[in-house]
Amino acid sequence: MRKIDKPIKHIYKCGIDNMITLITTRVDNKNFVMTSSTVAEVSHSPPILVVSISPERYTHDKIIKRGAFAVNILSIKQKTLAKICGGCSGRNVDKFEKYKIPYHISKGGLPFIEGCFANIGCKLIATHRYGDHTIFVGEMFEAEVYGERTTRHLLLSDMKHPLPSWLYNFLRKIPILHKLKRTLKL
Ligand SMILES: Cc1cc2nc3c(=O)[nH]c(=O)nc-3n(C[C@H](O)[C@H](O)[C@H](O)COP(=O)(O)O)c2cc1C
Repeated sequence: MRKIDKPIKHIYKCGIDNMITLITTRVDNKNFVMTSSTVAEVSHSPPILVVSISPERYTHDKIIKRGAFAVNILSIKQKTLAKICGGCSGRNVDKFEKYKIPYHISKGGLPFIEGCFANIGCKLIATHRYGDHTIFVGEMFEAEVYGERTTRHLLLSDMKHPLPSWLYNFLRKIPILHKLKRTLKL
């Protein structure tokens, strides 16, 4: 394998791929959702997973308040949903209301998004702060699994836009083009 000396941030460009999920929680009868690419299973017995969330996300403190969260594993057909939930904050908008996100409340009282491969309810058992993110450790206590074989789950590599990143970042800063990009689902 050829060695390339690059800053560590370039690790994201070397083909490491992650599953895309929506993290949801519910506090005072309000639902919260954000996109995440950092969910990993860390124990089978008991079943435990982790997700890394920046304290800047509105969902961060809501999960701590509720003491529970759900991991909604997206299918490739739900890319637009991943973009929406990762592109605006619950601080400014009720994403469920505005984008009519289909969901139901699980037995454990968490928002389970419809059309996913699986929805997993987790009890928050620990948090650990590393750098600029918090690792949420969740013990899975309920799940709904649908797993359609005709499709596959959404990966981080599916989220890439077709433009070079310098052009994409430039265009993002122009409000009218940003709107156009959303309309064209780029
Ligand atoms: C593909 C994708 C993956 C993301 N993964 C994470 C993640 O793992 N952790 C995180 O803190 N933010 C992640 N984000 C950013 C949040 O989803 C985004 O900031 C969101 O608007 C936060 O919403 P909130 O403020 O309502 O919580 C991701 C965004 C996208 C588009």
